[in-house]
Amino acid sequence: MSTRIAVGITGSSGGIYALDFLKRCPHDKFLIVSKWGKAVIKDELGFADPIAELTPYAKRVYADSDLTAPLASGTNRLDAFVILPASTSTIGKIASGLGDTLITRTAAVCLKERQKLILCVRETPLSTVTLRQLADLSAMGVIVMPISPPLYFVPKTVEEYVQGFVNKVLHHVGVDAGPAWRSEEME
Ligand SMILES: Cc1cc2nc3c(=O)[nH]c(=O)nc-3n(C[C@H](O)[C@H](O)[C@H](O)COP(=O)(O)O)c2cc1C
Repeated sequence: MSTRIAVGITGSSGGIYALDFLKRCPHDKFLIVSKWGKAVIKDELGFADPIAELTPYAKRVYADSDLTAPLASGTNRLDAFVILPASTSTIGKIASGLGDTLITRTAAVCLKERQKLILCVRETPLSTVTLRQLADLSAMGVIVMPISPPLYFVPKTVEEYVQGFVNKVLHHVGVDAGPAWRSEEME
């Protein structure tokens, strides 16, 4: 049986991490990009049409406005939902139980069905509101992964720097992330 991963891209800085994840995650990927996710990707990656650029890396792409998509229902099996990058706005909605977009509804489904939800938050500094919301979500079993790339393997390029963080996300969806995962093997 294939592994089914939903990927949500929201309007935080850091679409480059999502692109790397989509390229290197071998599982079946179901992609949703929010309106502001598209806007930030246009700015940061220079994509005139972000959906057209990202579609080749996904099995299916759904509009964030499409609440009829299979992901919106708990009757469809999902192995994990990765929101990368996750905006503080989306985190606030998820923590409050709002499901008015496909990204927030899919996250709500993960919470109710006890499915793996990974939130790669990107903001600094973090407000007390967001910190409290993240603590609540963490207590519910959500994996909170602030986009905080490691430097211990001394990346030489932006690509390596990005991969250092994405490797950790890949690890959480069961993908062997390769040699950049740690600078040396455990003795
Ligand atoms: C260029 C740009 C960069 C942004 N970067 C961030 C960010 O790094 N973190 C964040 O939480 N919000 C950021 N925002 C704000 C969000 O895009 C905004 O709150 C939006 O409503 C999020 O909607 P979404 O979560 O549905 O994508 C940024 C907005 C713009 C226009």
